[in-house]
Amino acid sequence: MQLTSRYRFAASHRLNTDALTPEENARLYGKCNYPFGHGHDYVLDVTVEGAPDAHGQIVNRAALDRLVRERVLARVDHRDLNSQVPELAGQVTTTENLACAVEKMLKQGWTLSAKLARVRIAETARNTFELESA
Ligand code: NI
Repeated sequence: MQLTSRYRFAASHRLNTDALTPEENARLYGKCNYPFGHGHDYVLDVTVEGAPDAHGQIVNRAALDRLVRERVLARVDHRDLNSQVPELAGQVTTTENLACAVEKMLKQGWTLSAKLARVRIAETARNTFELESA
């Protein structure tokens, strides 16, 4: 059985890589390459999987909330993803890379008996990225 809990955070970023010229960056990333960055209201869905315990729950929801808050939200909410998140240092702050970083943050602090099954991040109303956790 799976449970998905939803969280929200706001962050700024700019898509740019030193490996390309300014012109190539502009072509590759479009308006996400604009020099001064921009923000998103991200929606993070964390899915856990397991069998219901003796109390009829697959995970203690307060414990899951605390873990996501401490491990992820405290590190990314109202931050600049390009300069303030060590887990993304040296990476282009695409939501693909952000989802991988968030999965890593969760796994490093994972203390729950249920398994982390999926991380899903909606960057905009039109774009959602899903990472199945191994
Ligand atoms: Ni963006």
